[in-house]
Amino acid sequence: MKRTLLSAAILLCTILTAAGQPVEAGLARFHVGDDPAWRAPQFDDSAWQVLSLDKTWDDQGIKNAYNYAWYRIRVVIPASLKKGVSDKVLLDLGPIDDTDETWLNGHFVGKTGTNPEDPEGYDSQWSVPRRYIVDAKWIRWDAENVIAVRVYNSGNPGGFFERPVRIGKPELSDFLTLSLKGTKDACQLELRSSIKTAGTLEVSVSEPAEGDIAGILQEQEPVVKKVRLSPGKETRFSWPVKEQGRVKVTYRDNRIDGELTASYAAPYILTPPAPATPRYNGPLVFGVRPGSPVIFRLAFSGDKPMRYAVEGLPEGVKLDPVQGVLSGSVAEKGDYPLVLVATNDKGTTRAAFTLKVGDKIALTPPMGWNSWNCWGLSVSQEKVMASAAALINRGLADYGYAYINVDDAWEAEERAADGSIVCNEKFPDMKGLGDWLHGNGLKLGIYSSPGDRTCGGYLGTLDHEQQDAETWNSWGVDYLKYDWCGYSKVFNAQADRSTASYVRPYLKMQEYLRQQPRDIFYSLCQYGMAEVWTWGHAVDANSWRTTGDITDTWKSLYNIGFTRQTNLYPYAGPGHWNDPDMLVVGKVGWSDQLRDSRLTPDEQYTHITLWSLLAANMLIGCDIAQIDDFTFNLLCNNEVNAVNQDILGRQAHRDVDEDGLQVWSRPLADGGTAVGIFNLNGHDMPVALAEALAKAGIPARDTVRDLWRQQDIPVNAVYNIPSHGVRFIKVK
Ligand code: GLA
Repeated sequence: MKRTLLSAAILLCTILTAAGQPVEAGLARFHVGDDPAWRAPQFDDSAWQVLSLDKTWDDQGIKNAYNYAWYRIRVVIPASLKKGVSDKVLLDLGPIDDTDETWLNGHFVGKTGTNPEDPEGYDSQWSVPRRYIVDAKWIRWDAENVIAVRVYNSGNPGGFFERPVRIGKPELSDFLTLSLKGTKDACQLELRSSIKTAGTLEVSVSEPAEGDIAGILQEQEPVVKKVRLSPGKETRFSWPVKEQGRVKVTYRDNRIDGELTASYAAPYILTPPAPATPRYNGPLVFGVRPGSPVIFRLAFSGDKPMRYAVEGLPEGVKLDPVQGVLSGSVAEKGDYPLVLVATNDKGTTRAAFTLKVGDKIALTPPMGWNSWNCWGLSVSQEKVMASAAALINRGLADYGYAYINVDDAWEAEERAADGSIVCNEKFPDMKGLGDWLHGNGLKLGIYSSPGDRTCGGYLGTLDHEQQDAETWNSWGVDYLKYDWCGYSKVFNAQADRSTASYVRPYLKMQEYLRQQPRDIFYSLCQYGMAEVWTWGHAVDANSWRTTGDITDTWKSLYNIGFTRQTNLYPYAGPGHWNDPDMLVVGKVGWSDQLRDSRLTPDEQYTHITLWSLLAANMLIGCDIAQIDDFTFNLLCNNEVNAVNQDILGRQAHRDVDEDGLQVWSRPLADGGTAVGIFNLNGHDMPVALAEALAKAGIPARDTVRDLWRQQDIPVNAVYNIPSHGVRFIKVK
């Protein structure tokens, strides 16, 4: 027995000897099954298999897809780890697929996730790194310790999979969390500790001087506060902040080395409120094919109620004068110049507009909403309706947002007996939804895949392409997002890797879409493979995703927006657009748990500015029913949106990329140029506007239009561009 244990120790222990450094163990004894006796340190596991901790058990030949298994890890912990926070040690196990309960030398140290038989039900936490803080009194110093881990796995793959376990000193962040949250005029700090300790908080606030259009921030003298912390008692402070104000807080502990920092930037509204008189904010053209239904809502802001009229309507199209909705169809190709008229008790406004009946649709990028970035797979008809109703009630439809797109997870588990696709119980009446939208001048979008499965694991169209296109037509679908995903199975089974093999599934669906008696916006989603922008137009696509999925972080926005779109400007134009993915402003979450976008206010201005410059699809990704004033200000600035919807349809070119400063510009139909000056640095930057424009080769007169502020500003001035922020201007 002794000899076995000794050899096991030699086999299974890795020791890093440098004093105070963490120790690592990369191997464990492993057994499928479940027995509480296996947590005891003295249990003889010498007959168990040896597994490496950096690969799943599947990858090491174990078949145990849906069950319990145990790992027992032996590690010698050197007494040198005692220094510092001597009463606590960190067991850093890395992520475990799916749940774990862990014991050290027989003492329970923690559990992450819940198992099927737990009262709260099963909850996988496969991606969460396990960091357990252990009382030092359970450690056997300079001797062998046994970490026993009970793992539950609900499906392939399973177990430890990333790296060796580490035993070391905990960091400050293992005991404390510091967060700053707030509103536009107050910032709240919350500090929580799992130990009794004390330290200092250093708070610095910076804000711009009153009415300073240059936006230079002034930093105030930092304030230092002493705090005493104990478990279960949060420390809370709050400070008033001004428009555009920022707060930075640093916590230093008296016992543990290191510091925690958090910062907060108050949201600030730049878009001036819309006037009470009617103002037209929609696109200046609308394309429809001969005979296809015209579905168009007149986008006027201003006091309601309003009455609408349209001059020059061709035969076959009628207007609902109360709702401002056009319907009907036009048989003859041609450009029909119209005048859109809106009247309320403050006045009447007329806007010139062209209805283009021809082969092309999507003459400006699509504007609307998609369910994915907010609800993910938890989407339901009720949630979709809530956003659709809010699109109208909160006034976003008055800015041209018109598509309501249902993403993945509307599909039933099985097709009907005749092979047709059906909705699951969360969508009791898709056709009813379509009818309601059309009656309000809005449009219905749907999602599917050329594969047998979608990305979310739902039914795709494979071998039912024509039937599905017909079903969608019967529901009144106006937009299809067609996502590669499950098609990779078909693709991988064939040797052909030519561009034609990427084009094939999209060409197939295109044929069936065009057979339907309505216009269906065709949105390709295959993440940019085989340079889709070079052939998307050939499959009659109206847009194509150029990258993988976006998320609400600066890293994601930066990678997608500033590195991947640079060379794509030649490929966009009326009818066919590059799609850098949906918007991540407002309340998002990809699940039924929504949160505020993690982008800072400046990053959100950058996001919307860049998408306008890129002539990108403007698909709102948040729950519109919960939209706040800041998000409304981002999405409903008519001068900013006019750049996105400009009828020339030219995507911006990057003119300058120097020291983290980028200038992007696009020519506009009225002869002007839209210019975004972005600061991608981690710090603010004063920028001489005239100089930045000269570098970009853009001639400018004395003033330019600040599009967010809707104000003319002098060219010969220095403006602060906040970190990750932007000045968005139009040069006339
Ligand atoms: C992919 C797409 C996303 C979304 C999901 C749905 O990840 O890129 O936009 O449609 O699938 O499962």
